[in-house]
Amino acid sequence: MNKKILVVGGAGYIGAHMVRQLAIAGCDVVVLDSLPTGSRKLVQVGEFIQGSLGDPSLLDRLFAEHAFDAVMHFAAFSQVGESMHQPLAYYRNNLAETVALLDGMVRHDVKRFIFSSTAAVYGEPVATPITEDHSCAPTNPYGNTKLAVERMLADCDEAYGLKYTALRYFNAAGADESAEIGELHDPETHLIPIVLKAADGLIDHIQVFGTDYPTPDGTCIRDYVHVNDLAQAHMLALDALLEGGESSIYNLGSSNGYSVREVIAKAERVTGKKIPVVEAPRRPGDPAILVASSEKIQRELGWAPAYDNLEKIIQTAWNWHLKQKMNE
Ligand code: UFG
Repeated sequence: MNKKILVVGGAGYIGAHMVRQLAIAGCDVVVLDSLPTGSRKLVQVGEFIQGSLGDPSLLDRLFAEHAFDAVMHFAAFSQVGESMHQPLAYYRNNLAETVALLDGMVRHDVKRFIFSSTAAVYGEPVATPITEDHSCAPTNPYGNTKLAVERMLADCDEAYGLKYTALRYFNAAGADESAEIGELHDPETHLIPIVLKAADGLIDHIQVFGTDYPTPDGTCIRDYVHVNDLAQAHMLALDALLEGGESSIYNLGSSNGYSVREVIAKAERVTGKKIPVVEAPRRPGDPAILVASSEKIQRELGWAPAYDNLEKIIQTAWNWHLKQKMNE
């Protein structure tokens, strides 16, 4: 596919896996990232520009210089807990800067957009697995910002004919098989990388946030989906948009839910290590259960996730973890 794609936030965890897949597919990739949370070393292909999507003159330069076929937008703050304490940082970064990006696209007549949305738009589900027509009532500012962007996109389609795909990720996990790129947050807050640090003795224990949820073992249930399967879904969405497809919204998950305790047990199997656990209070903003139905994208775009079990996903994260340690 010989297309030119702007990947905003391409130095982040999911963006970097996307950049790699686009390059493998033969696309010409420009990455724009101001590196507030991303890492330069995760961008190993394409052109890298350090800058903000909220900078109109930089966007004007970029859009004038390159005839982009589409823009993919991964640049967001994404921690539910942090968003509860710093909502304005989330509204500024996730919403206001996206307004600037879309403004730039409209000024330069770029009309295809793929947006990283989230399961957090649904809030506490009333039916599981969650389908795309489930009501949206986020329980945290992070989810509110993502839902606001989705609504803005619908308005932009109506007003400017901007066609978009919003992909509602459930819990992204794992790393590329090469172990050359993977999850790299500082500080790390996500369950699987922290569990692996505890398995490796880099931290004393894993804290389990909440053991009194209405779930079989009392801990939160999430739907973990491999990061390269997410990237693959973007490729299909890109194809569909470039072929003249209409705007749409899809869930991306595996349809399987695992509790925090189950994730820890699987990580013990993969690593062969005992993982010390400390029970801790609930983390504000966490819904009890988030499990996706991804039937819509499978049916409409033919998405077929390659990673169908959590141990395989954790294995790729463990390989990345060990490689990182070797390189330190
Ligand atoms: N958890 C712990 N201990 C930890 C870290 C996490 O018990 O040290 C628990 C959390 O409370 C939660 C589960 O593990 O119940 C998963 O937590 P993560 O932080 O890994 O992921 P979240 O479910 O909070 O959020 C992720 C993304 C969001 C996205 C959401 C959608 O970070 O951007 O998935 O499901 F919205």
